[in-house]
Amino acid sequence: EKAGYKHFMAKEIAEQPVVLGDAIKHYAGAGGIALPAGIDFAGLDRLTMVACGTAYYACLTAKYWFERLAGLNCEVDVASEFRYREPPLPANSVALFVSQSGETADTLAALRYAKEKVKKIVGVVNVPTSTIARESDVALPILAGIEVGVASTKAFTCQLTVLLLLALKAGLDRGQLTKAEVQGHLDDLAALPGLVNQALAREGEIAAIAAAVAEAQDVLFLGRGAMFPLALEGALKLKEISYIHAEGYASGELKHGPIALIDRAVPVVVLAPRDALFDKTVSNMQEVMARHGMVILLTDAAGAREAGEGTWKVLVLPKVADLLAPILYAIPAQLLAYHAAVAKGTDVDQPRNLAKSVTVE
Ligand code: F6R
Repeated sequence: EKAGYKHFMAKEIAEQPVVLGDAIKHYAGAGGIALPAGIDFAGLDRLTMVACGTAYYACLTAKYWFERLAGLNCEVDVASEFRYREPPLPANSVALFVSQSGETADTLAALRYAKEKVKKIVGVVNVPTSTIARESDVALPILAGIEVGVASTKAFTCQLTVLLLLALKAGLDRGQLTKAEVQGHLDDLAALPGLVNQALAREGEIAAIAAAVAEAQDVLFLGRGAMFPLALEGALKLKEISYIHAEGYASGELKHGPIALIDRAVPVVVLAPRDALFDKTVSNMQEVMARHGMVILLTDAAGAREAGEGTWKVLVLPKVADLLAPILYAIPAQLLAYHAAVAKGTDVDQPRNLAKSVTVE
């Protein structure tokens, strides 16, 4: 069943070009975005997104997209906090629940809390027969295929893809994007599986970096803008399968505390495509280098040219449209965690203390 791979996680990472292509084809055809009827963001006062773990980080990323592309007021919360906080929900709002399994107890309870309060409940799930799918007004399958590895990989990038398509639809519905602009983004998206393949081809280099990271006690991940949630996800992935302590921070938060941790023994993974925020992130990276932190810069060729000097390691990824960078850069983050775990000899597919589906609180 592992199709020649050593672990399900490796197989599932490698499947991403195919499953992302499936999701893109399913939701975006020649005529533009193809979502089920009943999903309409026009005139909404708010979008609320709720999930746990990796799915929560997908929602945090999508907040950047919904705000930027659709001018839509967006709230994101972890399900365990949301459900007991019992937040007010405007009637003229949509609540969106993201879950690979569709069975996560806290996410399901949050969905039930939102029912009757909001206009529409949308479920973004991988298991189409799941409870969250059944109890949503509209359920959108992410089409990642069965995910066996406890650490979520292909479900994350498929969640991001479906959420991005929803944000583009919201941009159209709300008159913030023209059809031609949406088509431009869809053309970029059609090229994504090919870029993911190119990122996967860097596996050998990433494994070498991971072997060095595996020696560390603590690792930091930094990102700005939509790369910030990916910093959180990269840290989660590393800690859950390699048991190395890792934290993700918004780059700009570095000097508000975490910089105190930096010394010669702390690898700092900087997620920095050469986008509009690149110079800001680089200046944070230089603060790390001035304190002898071991910077691992993930960027593109232009970024490496401009800022690669003096870093410990640079991984050059293909140039990608700004909007899609969180999806593409998820690949090296996953591979880094995977190979660090392999180097440490931990149980990659069944990490200690973790279950694939958390059906109790
Ligand atoms: C991390 C991971 C977990 C899940 C979380 C939510 O790799 O797998 O953090 O993302 O337990 O699970 P679902 O998406 O099934 O609701």
